[in-house]
Amino acid sequence: MRRYLVAGNWKMNTTAASAAQLARSVIAGCSVPLANVDVLICPPFPFLGLVNPIIGATGVNLGAQNVHQEEAGAFTGEVSLPMLKDVGCRAVIIGHSERRHVFGETDETINKKVLATRAAGLQAILCVGELLSERDADETEAVLNRQMAGGLANVGEEAMADVVIAYEPVWAIGTGRTATPEQAETAQAHLRNWLSTRYNSQIVEAARIVYGGSVTADNARQLLEQPNVDGALVGGASLNAESFLSIVQAAVAAGTL
Ligand code: PGA
Repeated sequence: MRRYLVAGNWKMNTTAASAAQLARSVIAGCSVPLANVDVLICPPFPFLGLVNPIIGATGVNLGAQNVHQEEAGAFTGEVSLPMLKDVGCRAVIIGHSERRHVFGETDETINKKVLATRAAGLQAILCVGELLSERDADETEAVLNRQMAGGLANVGEEAMADVVIAYEPVWAIGTGRTATPEQAETAQAHLRNWLSTRYNSQIVEAARIVYGGSVTADNARQLLEQPNVDGALVGGASLNAESFLSIVQAAVAAGTL
């Protein structure tokens, strides 16, 4: 059985004080070992070094929201994988819809980041998802196929073993309009099927495909009960420890079905 991944994407929120407090509260709620759930928090870059010693060896993992593919050099304003490793990151969110649509990241750039992240030994969380106009035009599967083929180009079987796919329909992110469990399951089953055209059955079975887009304490359980929903990438609700921990608990409960 696949372990759930519940990841909090704090985006460009928190202060040093509130980031430390939020991390402490999340850890306090995860003090009992969670048999079937991995918990990840992704604070903004300036607070990674602050949160790392707070979470220590608690089992909650630290991740970044983005990365640059080069190791070092003249890339003003960018952050490298060696830097992320130095501050204790285990995972990187790559190709989030805000990176694609606000900052113009292409599948080609996203692919470089996935390859570099896996070469550095970190988990890559590759985000894919369609716009509302694309869904309305019946193009969801075509968009997902393109983003998967682009993002995973040259990602071999070994590298794929620690890639998580996050299905995040753009129309559901930060809008309060969550995909229905059926919509999430349909898209995510499609993504697993896509993986089966590229990877061996063991990798396809083990691959975690998580859902993101207005996940809350109230809707998490139904989403997580879907056979191809292996976790949640949580934005807004991850900024409140209580709601984030309720989503973690929903994963614990869904895993004991
Ligand atoms: P949301 O964000 O939960 O606020 O919709 C999800 C995400 O962007 O990862």
